[in-house]
Amino acid sequence: MSFSYPSDNFDYQLLDTGAFQKLEQFGPHRFCRPAPQALWPKSLPASEWKKAEGEYKYFKGKDTGGEWKIPSSLPENGWQIKFQNLVFKVQPTGFGHIGLFPEQAPNWLWIIDQLKQLNGKEIKVLNVFGYTGASTLAAASAGAHVTHLDASKGSVNWARENLELSGLGDRPVRWIVEDAMKYMQREHRRDNKYDAIIMDPPSFGRGPKGEVWQIEDKLSEFMEACQNILNDSPAFLLFTTHSPGFSSLTLENMLKTYLPSTQKGHFETGEMFIPDTSTGLHLPNGFFCRYRANARG
Ligand SMILES: C[S@@+](CC[C@H](N)C(=O)[O-])C[C@H]1O[C@@H](n2cnc3c(N)ncnc32)[C@H](O)[C@@H]1O
Repeated sequence: MSFSYPSDNFDYQLLDTGAFQKLEQFGPHRFCRPAPQALWPKSLPASEWKKAEGEYKYFKGKDTGGEWKIPSSLPENGWQIKFQNLVFKVQPTGFGHIGLFPEQAPNWLWIIDQLKQLNGKEIKVLNVFGYTGASTLAAASAGAHVTHLDASKGSVNWARENLELSGLGDRPVRWIVEDAMKYMQREHRRDNKYDAIIMDPPSFGRGPKGEVWQIEDKLSEFMEACQNILNDSPAFLLFTTHSPGFSSLTLENMLKTYLPSTQKGHFETGEMFIPDTSTGLHLPNGFFCRYRANARG
């Protein structure tokens, strides 16, 4: 398995982890957020942790749902950070997020690589549960026709802004604010097909009309919907999760069971992580399963 982390040319750094917290640098601003998986002690001195401008804390006795303590000096409309040629706006949001999932960085490069290997062939990529669009930007930057779908209008607008900031505003990207299942079932009825799907389903979510997404209840139906809208020979699939119990082997088993078209290609699975620059430890952050039709990469 090759899953090295591309730390160079990235204005993000995981500075330290431990005592169930992580210390992160997003461009010029430093944050402290919960990391329930950081079971070991912190490595940097308290003076470094105190430099965090913003801190997100779970409500007492809970491991989800919490609140930010942020100084008024932070830019109200966010700020920009770069990953290679891509530019992302970041800012603290609900659920303790900052608008970017840095553990996905190796996958952004993998997406670009898959597309480069198609030697200019134009393909249709669906990025479902696309959030602020990092994977959409990666795919669009490498020449794909991308459909970016998310239930949240705010996230879709943020993704559009990121595409513009990255100088990719002229790329063929369709923006869809919809419930994932509803959209995919409609695409099936219209007989619209895709060559690749990027999917990062949350544990729980809601569509714009309150449609409930609960991963354990919906994943089989979701896989069937993927099969129905995929071409006979998909170019690639990227499937990631952050849900407890959904390991990389579970993801691979789901793809192999529900997507018979993947019999022809190659699978790669593993655990996503972010390297902690002070200890050299890898902070675990979910699982991936990647499928590609071609032999290398
Ligand atoms: C884990 S985030 C995805 C992160 C993204 N793939 C990335 O790497 O930046 C989950 C996203 O799913 C969206 N979502 C939740 N329920 C949904 C639903 N029923 N249909 C479509 N999107 C949904 C949320 O709005 C959120 O943006």
